[in-house]
Amino acid sequence: MTVTATPATGSATGSTTASAVATAAPVGTSYDVDRIRADFPILSRRVHDDRPLVYLDSAATSQKPRSVLAAMTDYYERHNAAAHRGVHVLAEEATDIYEGARDKVAAFIHAPDGREVVFTKNATESINLVAYALGNADRLGSRGRLGPGDEILVTQMEHHSNLVPWQLLAQRTGATLRWIPVSLEGRLELDDLDSLLTDRTRIVAFVHQSNILGTVNPVDVIVRRARAVGALVLLDSCQSVPHLPIDVQALGVDFLVFSGHKMCGPTGIGVLWGRFGLLAELPPFLAGGSMIEEVTMAGSTYAEPPQRFEAGVPMIAEAAGLGAAVDYLTGIGLDAVAEHEHRLTGYALERLAAVERLRIIGPATTEARGGAISFVIDGIHPHDVGQLLDETGVAVRVGHHCVRPVCQLFGVPATTRASFYLYTTYGEIDALLDGIERAKRVFG
Ligand code: ALA
Repeated sequence: MTVTATPATGSATGSTTASAVATAAPVGTSYDVDRIRADFPILSRRVHDDRPLVYLDSAATSQKPRSVLAAMTDYYERHNAAAHRGVHVLAEEATDIYEGARDKVAAFIHAPDGREVVFTKNATESINLVAYALGNADRLGSRGRLGPGDEILVTQMEHHSNLVPWQLLAQRTGATLRWIPVSLEGRLELDDLDSLLTDRTRIVAFVHQSNILGTVNPVDVIVRRARAVGALVLLDSCQSVPHLPIDVQALGVDFLVFSGHKMCGPTGIGVLWGRFGLLAELPPFLAGGSMIEEVTMAGSTYAEPPQRFEAGVPMIAEAAGLGAAVDYLTGIGLDAVAEHEHRLTGYALERLAAVERLRIIGPATTEARGGAISFVIDGIHPHDVGQLLDETGVAVRVGHHCVRPVCQLFGVPATTRASFYLYTTYGEIDALLDGIERAKRVFG
Protein backbone atom coordinates (compact mmCIF):
# COMPACT_ATOMS: atom_id res chain seq x y z
CA MET A 1 0.00 0.00 0.00
CA THR A 2 1.43 3.38 -0.96
CA VAL A 3 -0.40 6.55 -0.06
CA THR A 4 0.55 9.85 -1.61
CA ALA A 5 1.18 12.36 1.10
CA THR A 6 -1.69 14.75 1.49
CA PRO A 7 -0.70 18.22 2.62
CA ALA A 8 -2.20 18.90 6.01
CA THR A 9 -5.18 21.23 6.02
CA GLY A 10 -4.45 24.16 8.24
CA SER A 11 -1.11 22.77 9.33
CA ALA A 12 1.47 25.10 10.75
CA THR A 13 4.07 26.05 8.22
CA GLY A 14 6.08 28.67 9.99
CA SER A 15 6.77 28.21 13.65
CA THR A 16 6.43 25.87 16.56
CA THR A 17 3.41 27.54 18.06
CA ALA A 18 0.26 26.14 19.61
CA SER A 19 -1.04 25.58 16.09
CA ALA A 20 1.81 23.16 15.51
CA VAL A 21 -0.13 20.48 17.32
CA ALA A 22 -3.53 21.29 15.87
CA THR A 23 -5.55 18.55 14.23
CA ALA A 24 -4.51 18.98 10.64
CA ALA A 25 -6.22 15.81 9.42
CA PRO A 26 -5.76 15.23 5.72
CA VAL A 27 -8.67 15.98 3.46
CA GLY A 28 -10.91 12.98 3.02
CA THR A 29 -10.24 11.12 6.27
CA SER A 30 -12.64 10.73 9.17
CA TYR A 31 -9.96 9.82 11.69
CA ASP A 32 -10.57 12.15 14.63
CA VAL A 33 -7.12 12.76 16.03
CA ASP A 34 -8.35 15.65 18.21
CA ARG A 35 -10.75 13.34 19.98
CA ILE A 36 -8.00 10.77 20.46
CA ARG A 37 -5.55 13.38 21.75
CA ALA A 38 -8.09 14.51 24.35
CA ASP A 39 -7.82 11.04 25.90
CA PHE A 40 -4.11 11.54 26.66
CA PRO A 41 -3.57 14.07 29.46
CA ILE A 42 0.18 14.37 28.86
CA LEU A 43 -0.32 15.59 25.29
CA SER A 44 -1.59 18.94 26.57
CA ARG A 45 1.63 19.54 28.50
CA ARG A 46 3.71 22.56 27.69
CA VAL A 47 7.50 22.55 27.92
CA HIS A 48 10.39 25.01 27.55
CA ASP A 49 8.95 28.55 27.60
CA ASP A 50 5.40 27.34 27.39
CA ARG A 51 5.73 25.57 24.06
CA PRO A 52 3.31 22.74 23.25
CA LEU A 53 4.84 19.33 23.69
CA VAL A 54 5.36 17.63 20.33
CA TYR A 55 5.85 14.00 21.27
CA LEU A 56 7.55 12.14 18.44
CA ASP A 57 9.11 9.34 20.49
CA SER A 58 6.39 6.70 20.59
CA ALA A 59 8.71 3.98 19.30
CA ALA A 60 10.55 4.34 22.63
CA THR A 61 7.36 4.41 24.66
CA SER A 62 3.81 5.46 23.90
CA GLN A 63 1.76 7.86 25.98
CA LYS A 64 -1.17 6.51 28.00
CA PRO A 65 -4.88 7.32 27.72
CA ARG A 66 -6.95 8.16 30.80
CA SER A 67 -8.73 4.81 30.69
CA VAL A 68 -5.41 2.98 31.25
CA LEU A 69 -4.47 5.25 34.15
CA ALA A 70 -7.98 4.83 35.61
CA ALA A 71 -7.86 1.03 35.38
CA MET A 72 -4.61 0.96 37.32
CA THR A 73 -5.86 3.39 39.96
CA ASP A 74 -9.12 1.47 40.31
CA TYR A 75 -7.19 -1.73 40.80
CA TYR A 76 -5.17 -0.26 43.66
CA GLU A 77 -8.09 1.63 45.20
CA ARG A 78 -10.61 -1.23 45.15
CA HIS A 79 -9.14 -4.64 44.33
CA ASN A 80 -5.50 -4.83 45.38
CA ALA A 81 -4.50 -8.36 46.46
CA ALA A 82 -2.09 -11.11 45.41
CA ALA A 83 -3.68 -12.84 42.41
CA HIS A 84 -3.85 -16.64 42.47
CA ARG A 85 -3.09 -16.68 46.19
CA GLY A 86 -6.24 -16.33 48.27
CA VAL A 87 -9.91 -17.18 48.66
CA HIS A 88 -11.00 -13.76 49.93
CA VAL A 89 -12.97 -11.40 47.76
CA LEU A 90 -10.09 -9.11 46.88
CA ALA A 91 -7.83 -12.00 45.88
CA GLU A 92 -10.55 -13.35 43.62
CA GLU A 93 -11.13 -9.94 42.06
CA ALA A 94 -7.40 -9.45 41.51
CA THR A 95 -7.21 -12.88 39.88
CA ASP A 96 -10.15 -12.06 37.62
CA ILE A 97 -8.54 -8.77 36.57
CA TYR A 98 -5.22 -10.46 35.83
CA GLU A 99 -6.71 -13.39 33.93
CA GLY A 100 -9.18 -11.09 32.19
CA ALA A 101 -6.25 -9.10 30.83
CA ARG A 102 -4.71 -12.30 29.53
CA ASP A 103 -7.92 -13.13 27.67
CA LYS A 104 -8.06 -9.62 26.19
CA VAL A 105 -4.47 -9.87 24.95
CA ALA A 106 -5.14 -13.32 23.48
CA ALA A 107 -8.15 -12.00 21.56
CA PHE A 108 -6.21 -8.92 20.42
CA ILE A 109 -3.54 -11.03 18.69
CA HIS A 110 -5.99 -13.76 17.67
CA ALA A 111 -4.34 -16.42 19.81
CA PRO A 112 -6.42 -19.60 19.72
CA ASP A 113 -5.92 -20.25 23.45
CA GLY A 114 -5.46 -17.82 26.37
CA ARG A 115 -2.98 -20.27 27.92
CA GLU A 116 -0.58 -19.31 25.12
CA VAL A 117 -0.17 -15.79 26.55
CA VAL A 118 2.59 -15.47 29.15
CA PHE A 119 3.00 -12.20 31.02
CA THR A 120 6.60 -11.05 31.46
CA LYS A 121 8.30 -7.80 32.47
CA ASN A 122 8.74 -6.68 28.85
CA ALA A 123 9.62 -7.99 25.39
CA THR A 124 13.29 -8.20 26.37
CA GLU A 125 12.42 -10.61 29.16
CA SER A 126 10.17 -12.57 26.79
CA ILE A 127 13.06 -13.14 24.37
CA ASN A 128 15.45 -14.02 27.17
CA LEU A 129 12.88 -16.49 28.49
CA VAL A 130 12.63 -18.25 25.14
CA ALA A 131 16.38 -18.26 24.50
CA TYR A 132 17.16 -19.56 27.99
CA ALA A 133 14.44 -22.21 27.95
CA LEU A 134 15.30 -23.39 24.43
CA GLY A 135 18.91 -23.81 25.54
CA ASN A 136 17.80 -26.08 28.39
CA ALA A 137 15.12 -27.98 26.50
CA ASP A 138 15.70 -31.64 25.68
CA ARG A 139 13.72 -31.17 22.48
CA LEU A 140 12.96 -28.22 20.22
CA GLY A 141 9.77 -29.00 18.35
CA SER A 142 10.36 -32.34 16.69
CA ARG A 143 14.16 -32.27 17.13
CA GLY A 144 16.65 -32.90 19.94
CA ARG A 145 18.73 -30.60 22.15
CA LEU A 146 20.44 -27.54 20.65
CA GLY A 147 24.18 -27.98 20.29
CA PRO A 148 27.30 -27.74 18.10
CA GLY A 149 26.50 -27.93 14.39
CA ASP A 150 23.14 -26.26 14.93
CA GLU A 151 22.48 -22.70 13.80
CA ILE A 152 20.48 -19.76 15.08
CA LEU A 153 19.51 -17.18 12.46
CA VAL A 154 18.82 -13.50 13.17
CA THR A 155 19.07 -10.38 11.00
CA GLN A 156 21.44 -7.44 10.91
CA MET A 157 18.62 -5.08 11.93
CA GLU A 158 17.79 -6.68 15.28
CA HIS A 159 17.41 -4.64 18.43
CA HIS A 160 20.08 -5.72 20.93
CA SER A 161 17.25 -7.46 22.81
CA ASN A 162 16.81 -9.84 19.91
CA LEU A 163 20.52 -10.29 19.29
CA VAL A 164 22.43 -10.55 22.56
CA PRO A 165 20.23 -13.32 24.06
CA TRP A 166 20.91 -15.42 20.94
CA GLN A 167 24.63 -14.66 21.09
CA LEU A 168 24.60 -15.92 24.68
CA LEU A 169 22.60 -19.00 23.68
CA ALA A 170 25.11 -19.77 20.93
CA GLN A 171 27.99 -19.40 23.39
CA ARG A 172 26.25 -21.61 25.93
CA THR A 173 25.36 -24.43 23.54
CA GLY A 174 28.09 -24.35 20.90
CA ALA A 175 25.53 -23.47 18.21
CA THR A 176 26.50 -20.97 15.51
CA LEU A 177 24.85 -17.58 15.12
CA ARG A 178 24.22 -16.39 11.56
CA TRP A 179 22.41 -13.36 10.25
CA ILE A 180 20.54 -12.06 7.21
CA PRO A 181 22.28 -8.90 5.95
CA VAL A 182 20.56 -5.55 5.42
CA SER A 183 20.86 -3.45 2.25
CA LEU A 184 21.56 0.27 2.20
CA GLU A 185 17.88 0.72 1.33
CA GLY A 186 17.18 -0.65 4.80
CA ARG A 187 15.68 -3.94 3.56
CA LEU A 188 16.61 -7.53 4.36
CA GLU A 189 18.81 -9.08 1.64
CA LEU A 190 16.85 -12.27 1.04
CA ASP A 191 18.53 -13.46 -2.17
CA ASP A 192 20.70 -15.90 -0.20
CA LEU A 193 17.98 -16.94 2.23
CA ASP A 194 18.14 -20.57 1.14
CA SER A 195 21.84 -20.79 2.02
CA LEU A 196 21.36 -19.01 5.35
CA LEU A 197 18.23 -20.85 6.46
CA THR A 198 19.07 -24.52 6.06
CA ASP A 199 18.34 -27.79 7.81
CA ARG A 200 21.07 -26.82 10.29
CA THR A 201 18.94 -23.85 11.39
CA ARG A 202 17.00 -24.56 14.57
CA ILE A 203 15.71 -21.09 15.45
CA VAL A 204 15.02 -17.96 13.40
CA ALA A 205 14.47 -14.77 15.42
CA PHE A 206 13.70 -11.53 13.64
CA VAL A 207 11.96 -8.22 13.97
CA HIS A 208 8.58 -7.56 12.37
CA GLN A 209 8.96 -3.77 12.13
CA SER A 210 12.42 -2.30 12.73
CA ASN A 211 12.63 0.29 15.52
CA ILE A 212 15.50 2.13 13.79
CA LEU A 213 14.77 1.73 10.06
CA GLY A 214 10.99 1.52 10.12
CA THR A 215 11.15 -1.44 7.73
CA VAL A 216 8.33 -3.97 7.88
CA ASN A 217 9.86 -7.35 7.11
CA PRO A 218 8.26 -10.03 4.90
CA VAL A 219 7.30 -12.50 7.61
CA ASP A 220 5.66 -14.87 5.15
CA VAL A 221 8.83 -15.39 3.09
CA ILE A 222 10.96 -16.23 6.12
CA VAL A 223 8.30 -18.36 7.81
CA ARG A 224 7.76 -20.38 4.63
CA ARG A 225 11.46 -21.17 4.41
CA ALA A 226 11.73 -21.88 8.15
CA ARG A 227 8.81 -24.32 7.92
CA ALA A 228 10.47 -26.09 4.99
CA VAL A 229 13.58 -26.82 7.08
CA GLY A 230 11.82 -27.42 10.42
CA ALA A 231 13.17 -24.33 12.22
CA LEU A 232 11.29 -22.52 14.98
CA VAL A 233 10.43 -18.83 14.43
CA LEU A 234 10.33 -16.04 17.02
CA LEU A 235 8.97 -12.69 15.86
CA ASP A 236 9.87 -9.50 17.73
CA SER A 237 6.63 -7.54 17.39
CA CYS A 238 7.38 -4.64 19.74
CA GLN A 239 6.94 -2.15 16.94
CA SER A 240 4.14 -3.93 15.11
CA VAL A 241 1.57 -5.02 17.71
CA PRO A 242 0.91 -1.37 18.72
CA HIS A 243 0.55 -0.22 15.11
CA LEU A 244 -0.84 -2.99 12.90
CA PRO A 245 -3.59 -5.59 13.19
CA ILE A 246 -1.81 -8.78 14.28
CA ASP A 247 -3.02 -12.34 13.91
CA VAL A 248 -0.52 -14.85 15.27
CA GLN A 249 -2.23 -17.70 13.45
CA ALA A 250 -2.03 -15.94 10.09
CA LEU A 251 1.61 -14.98 10.68
CA GLY A 252 2.45 -18.66 11.23
CA VAL A 253 5.25 -18.01 13.73
CA ASP A 254 5.96 -20.08 16.86
CA PHE A 255 6.67 -17.30 19.35
CA LEU A 256 5.79 -13.60 19.28
CA VAL A 257 6.86 -10.99 21.82
CA PHE A 258 5.90 -7.41 22.60
CA SER A 259 5.85 -4.83 25.41
CA GLY A 260 2.81 -3.19 26.99
CA HIS A 261 4.28 0.28 27.25
CA LYS A 262 4.59 0.83 23.49
CA MET A 263 0.87 0.11 22.95
CA CYS A 264 -0.71 2.65 25.33
CA GLY A 265 -0.21 0.34 28.31
CA PRO A 266 2.04 0.69 31.34
CA THR A 267 5.70 -0.15 31.71
CA GLY A 268 6.56 -3.33 33.60
CA ILE A 269 4.47 -5.76 31.59
CA GLY A 270 5.26 -7.59 28.37
CA VAL A 271 3.93 -10.57 26.51
CA LEU A 272 5.29 -13.83 25.23
CA TRP A 273 2.88 -15.64 22.97
CA GLY A 274 3.85 -19.19 22.04
CA ARG A 275 2.16 -22.23 20.54
CA PHE A 276 0.84 -24.18 23.50
CA GLY A 277 2.53 -27.43 22.53
CA LEU A 278 5.91 -25.71 22.34
CA LEU A 279 5.48 -23.81 25.60
CA ALA A 280 4.49 -27.08 27.26
CA GLU A 281 7.84 -28.62 26.20
CA LEU A 282 9.94 -25.77 27.58
CA PRO A 283 11.53 -25.91 31.02
CA PRO A 284 11.06 -22.94 33.39
CA PHE A 285 13.03 -19.69 33.17
CA LEU A 286 12.47 -18.07 36.57
CA ALA A 287 11.56 -20.33 39.49
CA GLY A 288 9.50 -19.61 42.59
CA GLY A 289 5.93 -19.37 43.83
CA SER A 290 2.97 -20.41 41.67
CA MET A 291 5.02 -21.95 38.85
CA ILE A 292 5.08 -25.41 40.43
CA GLU A 293 2.91 -28.50 40.45
CA GLU A 294 4.55 -30.48 43.32
CA VAL A 295 7.43 -29.49 45.57
CA THR A 296 9.34 -31.68 48.01
CA MET A 297 12.74 -31.08 49.56
CA ALA A 298 14.13 -33.46 46.97
CA GLY A 299 12.73 -31.79 43.87
CA SER A 300 9.84 -30.14 42.06
CA THR A 301 7.57 -30.55 39.09
CA TYR A 302 6.19 -27.60 37.19
CA ALA A 303 2.81 -26.13 36.36
CA GLU A 304 1.45 -26.06 32.83
CA PRO A 305 1.97 -22.86 30.79
CA PRO A 306 1.43 -20.00 31.28
CA GLN A 307 1.88 -20.33 35.08
CA ARG A 308 5.14 -22.25 34.57
CA PHE A 309 6.70 -19.02 33.32
CA GLU A 310 5.12 -16.61 35.80
CA ALA A 311 6.97 -17.16 39.07
CA GLY A 312 6.16 -14.82 41.96
CA VAL A 313 3.28 -12.40 42.54
CA PRO A 314 2.63 -11.00 39.08
CA MET A 315 2.22 -7.41 37.85
CA ILE A 316 -1.53 -7.19 38.41
CA ALA A 317 -1.99 -3.43 38.20
CA GLU A 318 0.04 -3.45 34.99
CA ALA A 319 -2.15 -6.23 33.61
CA ALA A 320 -5.20 -4.12 34.44
CA GLY A 321 -3.61 -1.24 32.53
CA LEU A 322 -2.66 -3.43 29.58
CA GLY A 323 -6.18 -4.83 29.41
CA ALA A 324 -7.53 -1.28 29.29
CA ALA A 325 -4.99 -0.41 26.57
CA VAL A 326 -6.20 -3.35 24.50
CA ASP A 327 -9.79 -2.15 24.96
CA TYR A 328 -8.78 1.36 23.95
CA LEU A 329 -6.94 0.31 20.80
CA THR A 330 -9.70 -2.11 19.87
CA GLY A 331 -12.24 0.69 20.23
CA ILE A 332 -10.36 2.82 17.72
CA GLY A 333 -9.42 -0.10 15.49
CA LEU A 334 -5.92 -1.08 14.46
CA ASP A 335 -6.83 -0.74 10.78
CA ALA A 336 -7.64 2.93 11.38
CA VAL A 337 -4.48 3.45 13.42
CA ALA A 338 -2.35 1.83 10.72
CA GLU A 339 -3.95 3.93 7.99
CA HIS A 340 -3.45 7.15 9.97
CA GLU A 341 0.22 6.36 10.59
CA HIS A 342 0.72 5.33 6.98
CA ARG A 343 -0.51 8.70 5.74
CA LEU A 344 1.54 10.58 8.33
CA THR A 345 4.64 8.61 7.38
CA GLY A 346 4.14 9.41 3.72
CA TYR A 347 3.81 13.08 4.53
CA ALA A 348 6.89 13.07 6.78
CA LEU A 349 9.02 11.16 4.25
CA GLU A 350 8.08 13.58 1.50
CA ARG A 351 8.91 16.62 3.61
CA LEU A 352 12.15 15.17 4.99
CA ALA A 353 13.30 14.15 1.51
CA ALA A 354 13.16 17.83 0.51
CA VAL A 355 15.52 18.92 3.30
CA GLU A 356 19.04 19.61 2.03
CA ARG A 357 21.86 17.66 3.70
CA LEU A 358 19.38 15.31 5.34
CA ARG A 359 19.65 11.56 4.76
CA ILE A 360 16.93 9.14 5.79
CA ILE A 361 18.36 5.93 7.28
CA GLY A 362 15.79 3.37 6.17
CA PRO A 363 13.29 2.95 3.34
CA ALA A 364 12.45 6.23 1.62
CA THR A 365 8.89 5.25 0.68
CA THR A 366 5.88 4.05 2.64
CA GLU A 367 6.03 0.63 0.99
CA ALA A 368 6.36 -2.01 3.78
CA ARG A 369 7.38 0.67 6.22
CA GLY A 370 6.14 2.01 9.52
CA GLY A 371 6.23 5.38 11.23
CA ALA A 372 9.68 5.38 12.84
CA ILE A 373 11.95 7.57 10.72
CA SER A 374 15.67 7.83 11.44
CA PHE A 375 17.77 10.49 9.76
CA VAL A 376 21.14 12.20 9.86
CA ILE A 377 22.08 15.70 8.77
CA ASP A 378 25.52 16.25 7.24
CA GLY A 379 27.73 18.25 9.58
CA ILE A 380 25.48 18.09 12.66
CA HIS A 381 25.71 15.36 15.27
CA PRO A 382 22.35 13.61 15.80
CA HIS A 383 22.50 14.41 19.51
CA ASP A 384 22.78 18.12 18.72
CA VAL A 385 19.76 17.86 16.42
CA GLY A 386 17.81 16.20 19.22
CA GLN A 387 18.86 18.87 21.70
CA LEU A 388 17.82 21.69 19.38
CA LEU A 389 14.50 19.99 18.66
CA ASP A 390 13.87 19.60 22.37
CA GLU A 391 14.34 23.34 22.84
CA THR A 392 11.41 23.84 20.47
CA GLY A 393 9.28 21.31 22.34
CA VAL A 394 9.84 18.46 19.89
CA ALA A 395 10.74 15.18 21.63
CA VAL A 396 12.62 12.66 19.46
CA ARG A 397 15.08 9.89 20.28
CA VAL A 398 18.77 10.15 19.45
CA GLY A 399 21.48 7.50 19.61
CA HIS A 400 21.95 4.03 18.18
CA HIS A 401 18.46 2.99 19.34
CA CYS A 402 19.94 -0.27 20.68
CA VAL A 403 20.75 -1.38 17.13
CA ARG A 404 24.44 -0.64 16.81
CA PRO A 405 25.00 -3.00 13.84
CA VAL A 406 22.68 -0.84 11.71
CA CYS A 407 24.59 2.33 12.62
CA GLN A 408 27.82 0.51 11.73
CA LEU A 409 26.34 -0.58 8.40
CA PHE A 410 25.33 2.97 7.50
CA GLY A 411 28.59 4.45 8.82
CA VAL A 412 26.91 6.78 11.30
CA PRO A 413 27.57 7.11 15.04
CA ALA A 414 23.89 7.58 15.78
CA THR A 415 20.68 8.87 14.22
CA THR A 416 17.88 11.21 15.16
CA ARG A 417 14.58 9.33 15.12
CA ALA A 418 11.04 10.66 14.95
CA SER A 419 8.30 8.13 15.57
CA PHE A 420 4.54 8.45 15.27
CA TYR A 421 1.46 6.94 16.81
CA LEU A 422 -2.31 7.17 16.76
CA TYR A 423 -2.26 10.64 18.33
CA THR A 424 0.38 12.22 16.08
CA THR A 425 -0.71 15.14 13.90
CA TYR A 426 0.47 16.61 10.62
CA GLY A 427 1.13 19.84 12.54
CA GLU A 428 3.61 17.96 14.72
CA ILE A 429 5.50 16.81 11.64
CA ASP A 430 5.58 20.43 10.48
CA ALA A 431 7.00 21.35 13.90
CA LEU A 432 9.69 18.69 13.41
CA LEU A 433 10.62 20.19 10.05
CA ASP A 434 10.73 23.71 11.51
CA GLY A 435 13.02 22.44 14.27
CA ILE A 436 15.33 20.75 11.76
CA GLU A 437 15.66 23.98 9.77
CA ARG A 438 16.43 25.82 13.00
CA ALA A 439 19.12 23.26 13.89
CA LYS A 440 20.70 23.76 10.49
CA ARG A 441 20.72 27.53 10.99
CA VAL A 442 22.22 27.25 14.50
CA PHE A 443 24.90 24.69 13.60
CA GLY A 444 25.54 26.04 10.10
N1 ALA B 1 13.32 -0.09 21.90
C1 ALA B 1 12.84 1.25 22.16
C2 ALA B 1 13.24 2.21 21.07
O1 ALA B 1 13.45 1.82 19.98
C3 ALA B 1 13.19 1.73 23.53
O2 ALA B 1 13.35 3.37 21.34
